[in-house]
Amino acid sequence: MSVVKSLYFENANVKVNSFTIANKNGTKAVIIEKGATLEKLFIKTKNGDFVDVLSGHDTFKGHTERSDYQGVVVGQYANRIKGGKFSIDSVEYNLTKNDNGITCLHGGGEYSSAIWNGEITGDKAVTFTYFSPDGTDGFPGNVKANVVYELTDNDELILSYNAVSDKKTVINLTNHAYFNLNGFDNGDILDHELKINADYFTPIDETSIPVKMAEPVENTPFDFREFKKIGRDINNTENVQIKNGNGYDHNFIINNFDGELNSIAIAKADKTGIVMEVKTTLPGVQFYTGNFLDGTIIGKDGKALTKRCSFCLETQVYPDSPNHQDWCKCVYDANEEYFSRTIFAFSLED
Ligand code: BGC
Repeated sequence: MSVVKSLYFENANVKVNSFTIANKNGTKAVIIEKGATLEKLFIKTKNGDFVDVLSGHDTFKGHTERSDYQGVVVGQYANRIKGGKFSIDSVEYNLTKNDNGITCLHGGGEYSSAIWNGEITGDKAVTFTYFSPDGTDGFPGNVKANVVYELTDNDELILSYNAVSDKKTVINLTNHAYFNLNGFDNGDILDHELKINADYFTPIDETSIPVKMAEPVENTPFDFREFKKIGRDINNTENVQIKNGNGYDHNFIINNFDGELNSIAIAKADKTGIVMEVKTTLPGVQFYTGNFLDGTIIGKDGKALTKRCSFCLETQVYPDSPNHQDWCKCVYDANEEYFSRTIFAFSLED
């Protein structure tokens, strides 16, 4: 078990370190200070070799240009906020509208493009810290945020998030890793099997804004309560939700949410036998199938990020909840701790 810190990129204005955490099995996670990005994740396949199960970038330039949030930590508010505004105690806050000029997406991009400060905080852990000044991208409060990445000898990658603000504000932090459990550039993800512990999902309009909190998954392409190939219903555009999302790009409402760490989803790769279980303390997960990747972004090893080359399971509170504060807790008082934890646990299919 070890953590190695090294210089990733430096110029006159910016210095970025990377941290590599390895465990006794040879599993390895590489995280960089830019966006507190999970850059690479090497997992053992059924043949005994290791593959990087993330798409994304391997250069500072790649991480900085259009990346569609590959591997980054997203904040201050992951997912969409309708009209780029919300109110707390009758005060309206106007946010950066970075999605088609009408919506605030992923907090306007602040946390994910920032350089976080990484520090080794254990023989298997690195803590990344970021300070967000009051009003950045329109969000109230000076916010101190950190995320701890930890890799256990059981091949669990644990992400623990803390944040505290000096003003009442909204907080929703997540990691935006794009997974391909067959390995990046080893075909698309349509033959992965997926199971999500959700009887309901959040339907969206053509601009990806929730139209209501919950609709049953039963008899829809959104029913992943038993293992199903991601590709089975993904092109069923007779379903208006598949059409609106251009595939899967929806929040799933985790059954029996109690704020404890619960198993919420399992994905299985057809070629490598790699299984990934997702556990979280959060009430929702955005299942996104890389619908907007069109091959124009060049990723690792100079290879293009193509449509459905990877998928995301972004644990979160429900999208646009600042405008529906009765849906789930998303508002934090001054000095009230935000905490959440998400685990990506890897194993091989027997
Ligand atoms: C959103 C997608 C978006 C992607 C990249 C996902 O979290 O749900 O709609 O295209 O992030 O920005």
